[in-house]
Amino acid sequence: MTDKKGQTAIAHTNIAFIKYWGKADPKLNLPTTSSLSLTLDEYYTKTRVEKATEDSLLINELPQDGKRVHQFLNILREEMGDFPPLRVISENRVPLSAGLASSASSFAALTAAVAKFNNWDLSLEELSRLARRGSGSATRSFFPGFAIWEKGTDDADSYAKEFKTPELPIALVVCKISGTVKKVSSSDGMRRAQTSPNYAAWVDESAQQLAEMKKALFSSDLERVGQLAEANALAMHDLNLTATDRRFTYFNQDTMKVLEQVKALRKEGYLAYATMDAGPNVKIITNQEQAPKIKAYLAERFRKIQFDIATPGPGISYE
Ligand code: PMV
Repeated sequence: MTDKKGQTAIAHTNIAFIKYWGKADPKLNLPTTSSLSLTLDEYYTKTRVEKATEDSLLINELPQDGKRVHQFLNILREEMGDFPPLRVISENRVPLSAGLASSASSFAALTAAVAKFNNWDLSLEELSRLARRGSGSATRSFFPGFAIWEKGTDDADSYAKEFKTPELPIALVVCKISGTVKKVSSSDGMRRAQTSPNYAAWVDESAQQLAEMKKALFSSDLERVGQLAEANALAMHDLNLTATDRRFTYFNQDTMKVLEQVKALRKEGYLAYATMDAGPNVKIITNQEQAPKIKAYLAERFRKIQFDIATPGPGISYE
């Protein structure tokens, strides 16, 4: 128990270069594959928890139904022992339209704030393990730069760790294609993707791609990093298209047009590789020198799309 009034934590979002796309255990959020991500500087969630009379959630000053947060707080109570009801006040600086998983930074910030509020003495890996029950991608948002979520075998050993690399001049050009809320949730998308006849092959390939990705990052080979990330993302989206249970796609026409331009950029000698998540937006992996040029190139061709440049970000912090 604590006599503190409240506690604030800040977590940045992350973008997976080797994706998490399927659950071995949906209740525990154990993944079928290990995944690797980059934490981003530009997008974050700042969450404050305060003692209250019942659990509640406010995001960007708007009251939310908060069922998922209430469920998650109860999981924390079961795991760590009881604590008083909390008012959760979240400031989300992950624009929905950026197509980045705000659930990653949200559940990481919430886990860290609750742990610190209750004076739990936990390592980042232990926090990551707890955050997994809220959202899988949140496991990776505790660490600066690159992180690997080792899939593990059970609840105890499935969590992320920092993956230290030489300093890399990496940057992402984030193409904000659509602001509409995604029509297939990531959990439902994963469930359907796992019915694809290609799913088992994707799981095997993903392990190889992860091994190669680690080597490419160690040797600062951004070209290879980009190739592997693009191949992994396209194969993930192929699972959605080939699902036998209600096949679907997150892509729209602009996604396809931007993907064509990514190829055109490469033909012109740019370092440019695409990755996409549970939405139509494209994130282009490049270096910090070329990012503004790629942004300008695309801005000229897509007047309605907005572009951001994102760079490696910090791990969890507290206020
Ligand atoms: O954990 P969720 O529900 O945010 O799922 C994340 C899924 C992807 O963003 C598509 C991939 C990933 O590894 O982040």
